Amino acid sequence: MTVHSILKMGDPRLLRVARPVVAFDTPELHQLVQDMWETMRLVRGAGLAAPQIGIDLQVVIFGSDDVNPRYPDRPTLRPTVLINPVISPVGEENDLDWEGCLSVPGLRGKVPRWRRIRYFAHDLHGRRIDCEAEGFHARVVQHECDHLAGILYPMRMQDFTQFGYTEVLFPEQMPDSDD
Ligand code: NI
Repeated sequence: MTVHSILKMGDPRLLRVARPVVAFDTPELHQLVQDMWETMRLVRGAGLAAPQIGIDLQVVIFGSDDVNPRYPDRPTLRPTVLINPVISPVGEENDLDWEGCLSVPGLRGKVPRWRRIRYFAHDLHGRRIDCEAEGFHARVVQHECDHLAGILYPMRMQDFTQFGYTEVLFPEQMPDSDD
């Protein structure tokens, strides 16, 4: 397995629209996803999209088996791989809540997202995923899938008075190496 370095905001590769995966269940795809899990776990991320390690493909991962120290008060999401995901909102309600991003280290901002979504994707083996999500789960999926469209969370923000350094906004929170 290979741990990759994570691209930071300003790198033009984060602004590309990622290409769809056309072949499932290949050794290369399995390797990519393994590398992404390894990379994400090392920096204790909640999710990671392939463009964040410079790979121009529509692949995202999120979730973990235990509580994420970066988001101790957030629910645990089952480890999930989404390939070629498509999101549609369910209802018109929005939520505003804090987000961070491994490509925007050290910062947090309040980002509006749809409260409820339905998402379609494929798994590593090409099987169809059709899922409804709300709250934190819906937020994570929207954040990660935005990476596939070249969108970073600050580009979704409407109120920049709610944007700042994690250590200042949340001084009580456990400091972390990257974010
Ligand atoms: Ni991100």
